[in-house]
Amino acid sequence: MPGLIIRPMTDSDVAAAERLSDEGFHELDLRMHRPSLPAPVRRGDTGSALWVDRTRHFLRTDPGGCWVAEDDTGLVGFATSFVRDTTWCLATYVVRPGLQGRGIGKSLLDAALQHGRGCLHGMLSASSDPKAVRRYHDAGFAMHPQMFLIGVVDRSAIPTIDKVREGSASDIDLMNSVDRQTRGAAHGPDHELLLRGQRLIVSDSTTGSGYAYLGGGRSTVPLLAASNRRTAARLLWAGLADAPPDQPVYVPHLTAANQWAIQVGMAARLELHQDGYLGLRGMKPPSPYVHHGALL
Ligand SMILES: CC(C)(COP(=O)(O)OP(=O)(O)OC[C@H]1O[C@@H](n2cnc3c(N)ncnc32)[C@H](O)[C@@H]1OP(=O)(O)O)[C@@H](O)C(=O)NCCC(=O)NCCS
Repeated sequence: MPGLIIRPMTDSDVAAAERLSDEGFHELDLRMHRPSLPAPVRRGDTGSALWVDRTRHFLRTDPGGCWVAEDDTGLVGFATSFVRDTTWCLATYVVRPGLQGRGIGKSLLDAALQHGRGCLHGMLSASSDPKAVRRYHDAGFAMHPQMFLIGVVDRSAIPTIDKVREGSASDIDLMNSVDRQTRGAAHGPDHELLLRGQRLIVSDSTTGSGYAYLGGGRSTVPLLAASNRRTAARLLWAGLADAPPDQPVYVPHLTAANQWAIQVGMAARLELHQDGYLGLRGMKPPSPYVHHGALL
């Protein structure tokens, strides 16, 4: 496209990127008829301080993974990505509605993928937009359908929850070990970011170890990892029990490899739906694991 440049993202792009993200995902929701779904599933809360804080975090840890597309009108697209251990992850990827389908997305993704060129593994959470799916498939990602749980928890179904405690920064080494076992890469500095905005619960006993972050955004349980299914189920129940009674909970990003989570959701009398894909390169769907939408 004439006048288009692809350049590294800077701190001063974050506000415009946030607006663009809102615009892009709002348009996608309308196109995919998502407004008919319950409110917690809809996108559009990217204006939160959490989103801005997270994007600035990527700029600090991975300046070479964050790119913008710009023309004379200003920012028209961006992609933020980062590398943890040997895994490249895509966080957010948007092109302005009306300019999509003209190759801007390909240029942006190619630049972000360059940042991960030494990586054996790749992860991303894909929307249902066929253009996104086409780009990811082209880049060698296999698509694994994502499901989500939503509804009001049947409090009478909540089992007795033991062996779960509050977590803190002193659990970061333990969490990095569980990350390496479940998804092959530690979250490293992302735990410090998550600890700033979310509550952490940990289970660490002779029978298994794991952790879950609770709340802080749209998702009731935005990230969960454990060394076995029993520990994972215990943490998910603890997260559901922690939600305000009579308010709907929302647990996205469940793959078919995590049937333990669907069993918990069914026992809690939640609804199960499908949305988007976990895109993976060089790895199998992590389990027992509920991936984070941006920090994976
Ligand atoms: C995903 C997104 C960033 C890609 O950017 P883009 O500029 O549209 O991407 P490109 O034009 O480079 O590539 C789009 C591809 O889809 C194809 N395409 C266009 N319209 C399509 C349609 N309706 N159905 C299927 N494929 C379509 C294009 O031909 C192109 O494929 P090709 O290069 O093999 O010909 C952009 O479409 C977007 O912002 N979507 C909404 C937000 C979103 O879903 N982001 C991804 C979050 S995971």
